[in-house]
Amino acid sequence: MLRELLLSMSRNDEVRNIITTAPFTRDVVKRYVPGESTDAAVVATQELASENLFVTIDRLGEDVFDKAQASETVVAYEQLLKALGDSGLGHRAEVSVKLSAVGQSLGDHSFVLENARRICQAAANIGTTVTLDMEDHTTTDMTLGTLTELRKDFPFVGAVLQAYLFRTEEDCRALAYEGSRVRLCKGAYKEPESVAYQAKIDVDLSYVRCMRILLEGKGYPMFATHDPRMIEIAKSLVETSGRAKDTFEFQMLYGIRPEEQQMLAASGYRTRVYVPYGEDWYGYFMRRLAERPANLMFFGRSLLSKN
Ligand code: FDA
Repeated sequence: MLRELLLSMSRNDEVRNIITTAPFTRDVVKRYVPGESTDAAVVATQELASENLFVTIDRLGEDVFDKAQASETVVAYEQLLKALGDSGLGHRAEVSVKLSAVGQSLGDHSFVLENARRICQAAANIGTTVTLDMEDHTTTDMTLGTLTELRKDFPFVGAVLQAYLFRTEEDCRALAYEGSRVRLCKGAYKEPESVAYQAKIDVDLSYVRCMRILLEGKGYPMFATHDPRMIEIAKSLVETSGRAKDTFEFQMLYGIRPEEQQMLAASGYRTRVYVPYGEDWYGYFMRRLAERPANLMFFGRSLLSKN
């Protein structure tokens, strides 16, 4: 119930205005979003790299409704990738891109493809990779279609698959080929019963089945979860599969279980932190609150202590 309420608030403009303009919000958001500028993203990356962590950076912004806004996002990614290259971080950091932020909902496929290609080219220039975030289920086919087109020229482009969708085991099979980078997450959107598992246990079981498929395949799986059970199961599946530690990675979000991120890296597991930055943090922030009531308590306590 609470999760659904928060997810619907994430798309409500009035609530957005109240939360984003409240003076106390900024401190709480900082826990999940290190800053709004390119510099802030680069500094956060440097800090994480010094702890032997890898990074994927997301320039916040989704549901772009005009071409100018989409183009602005592309330029921001180009500047970010150049700054990462200039700081010698190309081997540590890649970028995550939501196709909606570069115009997917505008209905002009060649426009979105060209925008994504520009970001891929900027990534190629500094020797790093790009992962296409996955949004709600109405966009899955489009996103996977764009992935196929991009991979013709930029074979390093990776996909995200969401274990809560019924279709995902099949998608994992299709994408478990050599050179294919697949981030497996549980899924963060409010999806109908017709397309997605609703109970946590069913999502978890699906996640485990998908991990098996990806590990049995020849691709490069990226297990994006904070769930201690999923992480332990991943470790034991990896061991049985005989895979080396550099043939897959763990991923977690910035600010969530940072000690576990460091512990995984210290144990020799490649671990990547997803670092969001930018002004448009509202949707991202609300999805994080929806994932965990404890996060909501933290937010509430901060509000009270500032009043
Ligand atoms: P889940 O929410 O099921 O929680 C299970 C357990 O994990 C909890 O009981 C607790 O023990 C631990 N845990 C979870 N959150 C915690 C917290 N805040 N603090 C402490 N412990 C916590 N989604 C999507 O739809 N499209 C995408 O492209 C992406 N991309 C993406 C990238 C990366 C790197 C990550 C880590 C996640 C995503 N997601 C995503 C989000 C993902 O789908 C999912 O919503 C969240 O990761 C939450 O699911 P978990 O598997 O982490 O655990």
